[in-house]
Amino acid sequence: MNLKQTLEQNISLALSDLAGETACQALVNHSKSSQFGDYQANGVMALAKRLKQNPRELAEQVNAKLELDEFAERVEIAGPGFINIFISNEFLTQQLNALDKSQLVDKTNAPQTIVIDYSSPNLAKEMHVGHLRGTIIGDAISRTFEWMGHKLIRQNHFGDWGTQFGMLITHMSEQDGATTELSNLEVFYRAAKQRFDNDTEFASRARENVVKLQSGDKQCVQLWKSFIDVSIQHCQELYQKLNITLTENDVVPESFYKNKLAGVIENLDNQGLLTLSDGARCVFLDDFKNKEGEALPTIVQKSDGGYLYATTDLAGIEYRCQDLHADRVLYVVDARQGLHFQQIFAVAKLAGLTNEECSLEHLSYGTMMGQDGKPFKTRSGDTIKLIDLIEEGIERAYSQIEAKNPDLSELEKQEIAEVVGVSAIKYADLAKNRNSDYVFDWDIMLSFEGNTAPYMLYAYARISSIFRRAELDINADYKVIVDGSEEKELALKLLQFTEVVDALLVECFPNQLCLYLYELAGTFMSFYEVCPVLKSEGEIKQSRLGLCQFTALTLKQGLSLLGINTLDRM
Ligand code: ARG
Repeated sequence: MNLKQTLEQNISLALSDLAGETACQALVNHSKSSQFGDYQANGVMALAKRLKQNPRELAEQVNAKLELDEFAERVEIAGPGFINIFISNEFLTQQLNALDKSQLVDKTNAPQTIVIDYSSPNLAKEMHVGHLRGTIIGDAISRTFEWMGHKLIRQNHFGDWGTQFGMLITHMSEQDGATTELSNLEVFYRAAKQRFDNDTEFASRARENVVKLQSGDKQCVQLWKSFIDVSIQHCQELYQKLNITLTENDVVPESFYKNKLAGVIENLDNQGLLTLSDGARCVFLDDFKNKEGEALPTIVQKSDGGYLYATTDLAGIEYRCQDLHADRVLYVVDARQGLHFQQIFAVAKLAGLTNEECSLEHLSYGTMMGQDGKPFKTRSGDTIKLIDLIEEGIERAYSQIEAKNPDLSELEKQEIAEVVGVSAIKYADLAKNRNSDYVFDWDIMLSFEGNTAPYMLYAYARISSIFRRAELDINADYKVIVDGSEEKELALKLLQFTEVVDALLVECFPNQLCLYLYELAGTFMSFYEVCPVLKSEGEIKQSRLGLCQFTALTLKQGLSLLGINTLDRM
């Protein structure tokens, strides 16, 4: 348990004890200002109201029962009944010195199996910016679960099985040298699509090929396979550039489920859940109505017998819950698919495709907007290719570095530009609440001020340089003795890393980690202004070096959970 949870538990117990009821909530949070302590419990007021007691008096009674000496130097009652807790320097000192430098946050002792579906682009199109957010956010969440010792199973649910593939393989088979054209997938799709739209005979051959492909025709399958292989290769290259952990082993695409779809329908049918509507087979659930109050169907099989996106997802839920034994299945997918996920989760539960304990969660994210407030596009209105975006980020970072630090070697400039450019794109995305739409803005994301990647990377590099200048080992043991208000602030902030990581695993909002790291960097800067490190001596110097070291380690670890590599110099 982290400190916040420990305080919550202790104070809640005291409340329950006094009230003679269970499950009272202390509602412990960080205090807004240090005059109100470090933590504040706000739960007394609600309880006092229920018990019809004076809240201030109740708070005094709670306080008399509390045994917080191990953590707190004092506890004060304030206002109408807030309990303010001032953490002691001894506790902070002891905790910091006991930290394991290689782990910082204790691994979980109750590992869960977490299945996470993210990135998951459609292979019938080149991966574009629309998939960027999910890829970046999903990767940060994955890294955090893994680091905390959970069993994490990544699923890249590529769209590789649909009518578009008929068009693509037909174009491939009829085009001399089409396979070489695949090196530029974008051009290839456009050419195929153009023929499909303008040439009715081509279109009907394409439709025949879909049927052939789906019934396992050797030649069609071979063409499809070679197309998919090239596409996956393209995605893998992007992941590598972006430092995303997805590998080819994580590819469990739509086609993986093709032989399970008939079984899903049969199962739903046996349970009497299917209704025929205009020839299509649907599940109607009471909870889903359109604006007019009419029942909204989840269509699982079209009138021509074809299956849908939803059918595959139902098969996916069954596989993930039953075969992979997931405790939680996380879907990092665009918010616009919210209704789809609500529907399939409800159908899956009703049909018993999942077990009671398995939690299905749509971790939705908003749209990436251009500065005009419309979904992000190039000036000519095309969707932006991811690879171009990344290259541009690196180029912009390069010019910045050249302007700031022209003396670095060419190689160093290149290396730094790669890290800064990619990190800027990733961090800008991670630092926003994933539910909101976000405006893509190079100037903001590459700025050295504010909650940005360059600022964070710079903060880390600056601490590294303290050790480098003094020729000290940043990994050695330095004994910390917390004393003085700036040191205390920093020590407390450092220990709160655990709280942030724990919270991230519950709600999956990486922006909270970004905010924490940004505040940590700021707390460090205030400490560093007031407390000389290399110019101090003896125990104090050791202790301050220890605080610098833990700050560096925490920044590095925190950024690495976000999928961002640090630089020792910038
Ligand atoms: N391929 C889909 C798209 O590009 C996303 C898939 C998300 N995952 C899922 N299991 N439906 O919109």
